Amino acid sequence: MRKPMIAGNWKMNRIPEQAVQYVRALIPLVKDAACDIIVMPPVICCSYIKPIIEGTNIRLGAQNVHFAECGPYTGELSVQMLMAIGVEYVIIGHSERRQYFCENDKTINLKTKAAVKSGLKPIVCVGEMKEERDSGYADIKISYQVLMALNGLTDKEIEKTVIAYEPIWAIGTGVMPALNEANNTLSMIRSAIERNYGNKLAQKVRLLYGGSMRPNNAGEIIAQPEIDGGLVGAATKDVEDFAKVVNFQKGGRQ
Ligand code: 13P
Repeated sequence: MRKPMIAGNWKMNRIPEQAVQYVRALIPLVKDAACDIIVMPPVICCSYIKPIIEGTNIRLGAQNVHFAECGPYTGELSVQMLMAIGVEYVIIGHSERRQYFCENDKTINLKTKAAVKSGLKPIVCVGEMKEERDSGYADIKISYQVLMALNGLTDKEIEKTVIAYEPIWAIGTGVMPALNEANNTLSMIRSAIERNYGNKLAQKVRLLYGGSMRPNNAGEIIAQPEIDGGLVGAATKDVEDFAKVVNFQKGGRQ
């Protein structure tokens, strides 16, 4: 049985003082949640948040990482640096990074490998643009992105890797694929993993949906059989909204 996960991607929002207030408010609201809960603030906030969430059911994630251990990469942070400040998860290949920072499937694979080999759990993002969907290329693109990201990982490492399907046109727009379409895409991703790595492993990999997940739809999205949770953006803005998404069981899948 795959444990549901809700990860909140804060993107480039909040300074440490605001982050501290946010997690202090979040802790009591989600203390009984049955899913894994990850907050993914700007890295500058992590050392402030870490002692506050210590001993709670909330885990810390980052939004990006570099693939090298150290060296001349101005402005970048390594896996070791993130882990040293208590980060356990990292988003890799978010569409905003692919779009604005020229990330590609090769660097995303290097980052995924670097993270998982050192024990940092990757949440790899994949997804299609509207035009790609309309021209019928979405599945080809998405399965290619998934298999490229996983290339060279061992079975144990793949098991620890989370894949988040985020249709680019659904991010921050309030528009979403129909529930069965989102489920079918995640099913297609699982089949691609199964073809390459076998059914047993494919059944263990957690697959998230991201893109306009909100308190009012999280329950029905995660009730879909292939969807193991959500990667949430705008609904992290308000701590109560995020807590409602985390507590989706109360309205959806039990
Ligand atoms: P929204 O929830 O704002 O659509 O963003 C999703 C996202 O990009 C999470 O990584």
